Amino acid sequence: MDRIVIQGGRRLAGEVPISGAKNAALPLLASTLLSRDECVISNVPRLQDVTTILKLLRHLGAAVREEGNGVVGVAAPSLGATDAPYEMVKTMRASILVLGPLVARCGEATVSLPGGCAIGARPVNLHLNGLERMGAQVAIEHGYIRVKAGRLHGARIALDLPTVTGTENLLMAATLADGVTTIEHAAREPEIVDLANALIARGARISGAGTDVITIEGVPALAGGAYRVMPDRIETGTYLAAAAVTGGDVFLRGGVGGHLEAVLSKLREAGADIAVDAEGIRLRRTGPLRAVDFETAPHPGFPTDMQAQMMALLSIAEGASVITESVFESRLTHVAELRRMGANIRVDGNHAVVRGVPHLSGAPVMASDLRASACLVVAGLAAEGETHVLRVYHLDRGYERMEDKLSRVGAAIYRRRDAA
Ligand code: EPZ
Repeated sequence: MDRIVIQGGRRLAGEVPISGAKNAALPLLASTLLSRDECVISNVPRLQDVTTILKLLRHLGAAVREEGNGVVGVAAPSLGATDAPYEMVKTMRASILVLGPLVARCGEATVSLPGGCAIGARPVNLHLNGLERMGAQVAIEHGYIRVKAGRLHGARIALDLPTVTGTENLLMAATLADGVTTIEHAAREPEIVDLANALIARGARISGAGTDVITIEGVPALAGGAYRVMPDRIETGTYLAAAAVTGGDVFLRGGVGGHLEAVLSKLREAGADIAVDAEGIRLRRTGPLRAVDFETAPHPGFPTDMQAQMMALLSIAEGASVITESVFESRLTHVAELRRMGANIRVDGNHAVVRGVPHLSGAPVMASDLRASACLVVAGLAAEGETHVLRVYHLDRGYERMEDKLSRVGAAIYRRRDAA
């Protein structure tokens, strides 16, 4: 296993290129199963989760070619399998995203029931209820979801809550259903708009993506096509927090301000100067960091995937911040590790009260999930002394070359391979 070693206290300055969005690339790659002809997806980030889903697509019988420059071609003229085995799903729960496309394309699917993870139980009941509304028979047996359907038919689906991958699965399934489907209380994340745009370019009839009601008129088949993955707004937010916590001046090339307004608003409230233009986002922080309160919520609210990184920043802000995690039931596990670095944080249910301290101190720390890992890197950049972030495989799932990107803007950071 690798670790990341950081010597804190360096001010970040310079330009960071933003990669394609993990949480757009994964559904986009899953959606290629809906087409017989080749789909060419560009700006695909080089991440472990992408490697995992490409392996799954190959397992299902798709021809996958990786051009090495972020361009991936997937052709699925026929599919030899309709199952996503436990061994694959346990490494990446987003494998559930092949469920909708497989049922729509092949009339059946057997997907391992994704387990919970460090941040919560992560049920998929809303995905399954929606497919049943569209005429599928769903059974859960021996840890697998078994779905059978003739041709899916259009339906009115009212989601209990705006599940992101649930909306994506049902959106993809509805593109080939017989008739019109409406998804109400749909998730509004930019990644869903990206997926819808890609599907429309391939002949799907979709309206309302990005709002809480999406309408899909099914078509007999989808063509192939080319599509470029949107920039990663959570990677963008993570580097904005890194620049702010070090009192830096960083330009994030490719960052889209409109994708993370709630984060920009809280960073400005905390004392950062932020300028947004067509090329990217620039953040400077020269004055003191100030405490701010925030609560996570579905888009366009403050994204839960930025909660941990923001907490690292607020650990050294003047005053007390109240952070409320309202999306996942146990996404405060990074608090214990931040405390080991000297943070003063009290947890009460899904609230964390963060009382700023003058500085954090470097320490060996270990994360339990992707964004908790990112939070510890952000904390390490500001801490006095050396921080070792262990279990870096979490980071590699969602951040492309993080130590390279950070060292190019002045961070004293490197990766060290530990004896296995
Ligand atoms: C997506 O996960 C993201 N993953 C997550 O990013 C992100 O944190 C999450 O959306 C929220 O924004 C991908 O896009 C691949 P949800 P998803 O279904 O779709 C409950 C990262 O770090 N729920 O919107 O699994 C659920 O328990 C990852 O990149 C049900 O109850 O999240 C949770 O409390 C982490 N029943 C809430 O909804 C369901 O059927 C939101 O979950 C589905 C969800």
